[in-house]
Amino acid sequence: SATRYEAEAATYSAGSTVDTDHSGFSGTGFVNTPNKVGSAVQWTVNRAQAGPATLAFGHANGTTANRALDIAVSGTVTAKNVAVPSTGAWTRWRTLVITANLKAGPNTIRATATTANGAPNLDYLDVTAAATDWSKAM
Ligand code: GCU
Ligand code: CA
Repeated sequence: SATRYEAEAATYSAGSTVDTDHSGFSGTGFVNTPNKVGSAVQWTVNRAQAGPATLAFGHANGTTANRALDIAVSGTVTAKNVAVPSTGAWTRWRTLVITANLKAGPNTIRATATTANGAPNLDYLDVTAAATDWSKAM
């Protein structure tokens, strides 16, 4: 099962606000970052064991333009310039899902806007351990 990390409990770049004006969010709000390159939300995810994980970012993009993100895991961009399309409305929340290898102990997961459009509104990060493909181990 997934462990949920709310965006409002994470760290976020200067000028961001925790907002509640678009319904349907998880927790006590979502993070609205300034619309510019470099706007970011960063979570710290502690794992008992190293291994592959599914990262699902709850978000909304009520514009018609993509909002592209770099996803960095402990400082290394593992998903580059991922286009986050319109979700149709600011109240329509969707997940962006990637997989990443996490280490035991603390991992930083950072979503950073790569264009002047900025980031989508970010609601949470769900982390789920992924099955290891042992067929390739030998
Ligand atoms: C609107 C919307 C915000 C959103 C912003 C944006 O102001 O209400 O929630 O963050 O647009 O364009 O990023
Ligand atoms: Ca915004």
